[in-house]
Amino acid sequence: MKLLVIGNGAREHALVWAASKGRHSVFCAPGNAGTAGLGRNLPIDPLNALAIVSACRELGIDLVVVGPEHALAAGLVDALEAAGIRAFGPNKKAAVLESSKAIARAFSERHGIPCAQTTLFSPGTGSADFFRWLDAQQGRRIVLKKSGLAAGKGVMESDDPAELRAFGEAVLAADGLLAEEFLIGQELSVFALCTEGGYRLLDPAADHKKALVGDQGANTGGMGAVSPLPFATKELMARIDREIVGPTFKGMAAESLAYRGILFFGVMATADGPRLLEYNVRMGDPETQSLLPRLENDLGELCFEVSAGRLPVPRFSSRVSCGVVIAAPGYPISYPRGLPVEIRDAGPELALGKPEAGFCTMPGDSAACALLFQAATGRDPDGGLRTGGGRCFTAVGLGQDWAAAQANAYGLASHVHFEGAWYRTDIGAKIYGK
Ligand SMILES: Nc1ncnc2c1ncn2[C@@H]1O[C@H](COP(=O)(O)OP(=O)(O)OP(=O)(O)O)[C@@H](O)[C@H]1O
Ligand SMILES: [Mg+2]
Repeated sequence: MKLLVIGNGAREHALVWAASKGRHSVFCAPGNAGTAGLGRNLPIDPLNALAIVSACRELGIDLVVVGPEHALAAGLVDALEAAGIRAFGPNKKAAVLESSKAIARAFSERHGIPCAQTTLFSPGTGSADFFRWLDAQQGRRIVLKKSGLAAGKGVMESDDPAELRAFGEAVLAADGLLAEEFLIGQELSVFALCTEGGYRLLDPAADHKKALVGDQGANTGGMGAVSPLPFATKELMARIDREIVGPTFKGMAAESLAYRGILFFGVMATADGPRLLEYNVRMGDPETQSLLPRLENDLGELCFEVSAGRLPVPRFSSRVSCGVVIAAPGYPISYPRGLPVEIRDAGPELALGKPEAGFCTMPGDSAACALLFQAATGRDPDGGLRTGGGRCFTAVGLGQDWAAAQANAYGLASHVHFEGAWYRTDIGAKIYGK
């Protein structure tokens, strides 16, 4: 099968890596230096639907898997379907569940899905209502969210009225604003493969959204992810399924929002039960990088089946996975791009961009146990590797237990060098205890 992955992040590198294990011909648009080592990059902007459609026709692409939310929200799947090209992902109408948090929150309230208590403020009506509402909160901790897409950076939580006021006012100047009660609990990312006919849950993962150790600092696109989750018991997953996932798909069917792809539920497991934080209509980054090395199905086949309206059973190995994001200096605020990267002393097994990019192996385990996924990287004419974004790499460690996974992830991360590179040193600690 010829498969085209859209995007250039570490998530897309992981998708291309997993698909290329199944001996499919894999293309990536626009891809990065990592995907170039596994398949063929096409220099096409994910927002240029016309160019993607014509490349698909020219190359005889059998399936397009769309990574980034911007392309989905802009209607890439609509353009592909209109051209008779099979796609994995929602059309523009359904992508609104992610691209408008205001619409998504109204949808979940209509269908009785438990969420944080939320107050919506519309754009263009000034900030007076919001200021009055804030004054009545008396210093309570609040989460403010920009309604539209913001790459994980449109959310602020605080109990400082001045900070909340400034953030809310800035958002309201151009977009809708959601003000939510601050929920306390354990957060997890729940993924469902979906068609119009039903859904199947994948193993959940846990992202680390805050920039700094101990979940401090600003929100980011995600600084690391682990899977599986010992706290995600059968009972908890059954409750999430019953109270959040099931009612969502029922509501989507009723409102003609069903699609073939992935629906991702951001969930907070609180003492009062699970609460939906948000929907995303695609795989998560960095969750994908941690999950796919545990997936035992052929990824290309799995996505193809879903795109054809069928729901195969996803299978995951029992290996533990720890993904550590290596970021550029200044991320998530402002950061340089194009920094030269050096991978030092990593041994001959570490071949950047190769499917067997494992750099240490466990006795008796032939599978790779550390994988370096690249995001937006490029190559100099002389072959040198350069960063291209804020979250530059995800170093994923795998192991039979948490200690091995963690050691493999951080062992690999320590070999990746560029000026000002940094990462959280506590990925997974809140879940596995150290
Ligand atoms: N009501 C809440 N209470 C506590 N924390 C919250 C709440 N809402 C959001 N958060 C925190 O903020 C993070 C980002 O919020 P949310 O997932 O809604 O935004 P996003 O920008 O769409 O994120 P993503 O990049 O994952 O799509 C969440 O992952 C969670 O850690
Ligand atoms: Mg989101």
